[in-house]
Amino acid sequence: MLDMQSASVTPPRAILREEYRQPDWLVPDIALDFTLDPGLTRVRARLTLERIGRHDAPIRLDGEGLKLIEVSLDGEMLGTDRYRLEDDALVIPCDADKARLETLVEIAPQANSQLMGLYESGGILCTQCEAEGFRRITFFPDRPDVLTRYSVRMDADKAEYPVLLSNGDCVESGEGEGSRHWARWEDPWPKPSYLFALVAGDLVANRDKFVTRSGKSVDLAIWVREGDLAKTGHAMESLKKAMKWDEETYGREYDLDQFNIVAVADFNFGAMENKSLNIFNSRYVLADPDTATDGDYDAIAAVVAHEYFHNWSGNRVTCRDWFQLSLKEGFTVFRDQSFSADQGSPAVSRISDVRALRSAQFPEDAGPLAHPVRPDSYIEISNFYTATVYNKGAELIRMLHTLLGPEAFRKGADLYFERNDGQAVTCEDFVAAMEDASGRDLSRFRLWYSQAGTPQLSATIDHDAGSARATVRLEQSIEPTPGQVDKQPMAIPVKLALFGAHSGKRLGEEMLGLLDEPSEEIVIDGIAERPVLSINQAREALRRDIGAALAADWRAAYAGNSAERYEYSPEAKAKRRLGNTALSFIAASGAEDAPQMAFAQFEAADNMTDRQAALAVLANGDSPDRVAALAGFYERYRDNALVLDKWFAIQAISTRDDTAARVEELAGHPDFTLRNPNRLRSLVTSFGVNQRAFHTVSGRGYRFLAGIVLEADKINPQTAARMVTPLGRWRRLEEGRSSMMRTELERIARSEGLSKDLYEQVSKSLG
Ligand code: TRP
Ligand code: ZN
Repeated sequence: MLDMQSASVTPPRAILREEYRQPDWLVPDIALDFTLDPGLTRVRARLTLERIGRHDAPIRLDGEGLKLIEVSLDGEMLGTDRYRLEDDALVIPCDADKARLETLVEIAPQANSQLMGLYESGGILCTQCEAEGFRRITFFPDRPDVLTRYSVRMDADKAEYPVLLSNGDCVESGEGEGSRHWARWEDPWPKPSYLFALVAGDLVANRDKFVTRSGKSVDLAIWVREGDLAKTGHAMESLKKAMKWDEETYGREYDLDQFNIVAVADFNFGAMENKSLNIFNSRYVLADPDTATDGDYDAIAAVVAHEYFHNWSGNRVTCRDWFQLSLKEGFTVFRDQSFSADQGSPAVSRISDVRALRSAQFPEDAGPLAHPVRPDSYIEISNFYTATVYNKGAELIRMLHTLLGPEAFRKGADLYFERNDGQAVTCEDFVAAMEDASGRDLSRFRLWYSQAGTPQLSATIDHDAGSARATVRLEQSIEPTPGQVDKQPMAIPVKLALFGAHSGKRLGEEMLGLLDEPSEEIVIDGIAERPVLSINQAREALRRDIGAALAADWRAAYAGNSAERYEYSPEAKAKRRLGNTALSFIAASGAEDAPQMAFAQFEAADNMTDRQAALAVLANGDSPDRVAALAGFYERYRDNALVLDKWFAIQAISTRDDTAARVEELAGHPDFTLRNPNRLRSLVTSFGVNQRAFHTVSGRGYRFLAGIVLEADKINPQTAARMVTPLGRWRRLEEGRSSMMRTELERIARSEGLSKDLYEQVSKSLG
């Protein structure tokens, strides 16, 4: 069968949420047998199938880019008259209600540049199946509501691939013919195909143990290339903290004897929660002070926790269909945010979560790609791994937590896991569990799942000094979004407190209000002083954390917080952050000695946080030290891909006038490649958020972005499609820029052989 990714003449079809039907056939068991080779891998699959419901539909299995060698049904080899090969499916008529089906296919991991299915990354063979990658490995009903027990045998060259991993436990292994060896893994937990994983490679492990609170000992391993072993300590510490936190906070224990993490260099997203075999983008595993910033350390802890938490929120209880993606992602982001808050400063965590929401999700919700947290339709599901599904989805869970309070929320979570364990369910099932456990009516709250757009909340306050009465009036409204013109009022929890306009003292307790009408009035008595209103913010905590330092001037802050010996502690991190913020403000003010200060810091730094911050300041300026620093950084780290990504990104986000030209030049740099998503994003995604350079008046930024997205689409559509969004913001610019942006979108839309990923983003952006 040919690879069908290319050349779509008729526009690809949209999948609708309303069209959901339960599967015709279930697959209780699968035995997979891989003969691994990077050039050509053979995959034999033995499926047991069971018809569900009364129907005479044939067995229909998804498959994409597979070369079918043979197929047999209940032991009988089928001729081509007994099955049909459609574009992306294998269809086999079958009269019985139970069947055993066996297929043999060939795939080519090395030629797989999409990084979906089985592919090669730096000599490691690995898989990525979410959302629809399993169909690129074998024929299977590749949808999350088909739960299957997996037994996986793999056979590979022992020297090239000494380590063979899959989900569950290794139950058998041995020597094979010639230079080959094999292993068999079994996962006792039925799972959807998107959680399947396999890794074969020359890897070494950082090993540790975790004893669960019921006393079970779990073997932990983080697998990396040999030279990277020393950089896995922080990820391991984060994993153990996450396991403990989930026991303490949600009462959730780990459910197997092994937990493996593998780091790979080529990966479309951050990481993947495959059952007991998490596969990570190496940037979320590897860290040491010389190469990773404090921000990198925080991100590693958050992503390790996120993927681990999926073991319950996603794996044990999974999604019925991909429209329910936020069921697992929104909840799991909320869980990882709560974890990070509990590890460090809750106020600092919350501020950075809100910043991410405002800078990524608000614009998405106000633009042409706006969609509800539970979308109603998609062309390509990969395009819906968005800030809306993840971050706004997490805010919905946070609202429930606020609305119900921590105890009722925990009861709701317990009920949700208990009721739905081992099943594929919907966002509605989550809300229903919260409703049942708390006894609260959440009907208005449900609108958050179906309505796109950011509600505007306004608040005014009236004060009558005579009666000491304050009246707070809250109002909500939502602008129309694509396909949704009329919006209904939603349930919005509002925390409010009154402060004396004169005294600055808080007047009474903080209150929790609920706005579930277009407008509402809250009357508060006993307010003698003229009040001012404070709504929803962690302001006091922020003031407590950094207030004192803000009062000092930037130079004093810099002098007081820089050039200490590196230490990884909350205090040392806060000092570095403050010192580097001060440096950036000193530079932004145009102070003449700023470049010298930055260069001195760059040279003296004993950690990447300070080195990168200094380099970023220099890269924005004009000083001769800029060239020296960029060259020095490059020479020092040219063999470290993750640090070289920083070198590309720092230049792509520079505020210099020649940044657009420099970015074009960097796209021709020998270390630039379209094949590695991290490298591609370090240049192109960074450039796209650089307002000044991207919107340079000549329009060359737009041309560059469109050109490189088109090139990348031929190699990796999933990653390419996500980079085109900055062009979709054309409605917000003046006519000149707006029309140049549209011209570039139209150029992409007219191109031949567009992937459906990119087609969807571009056609919606043109709107
Ligand atoms: N489920 C992953 C997460 O935890 C996201 C993810 C990883 C993903 N790889 C992917 C999504 C590939 C789509 C395609 O967030
Ligand atoms: Zn996730």
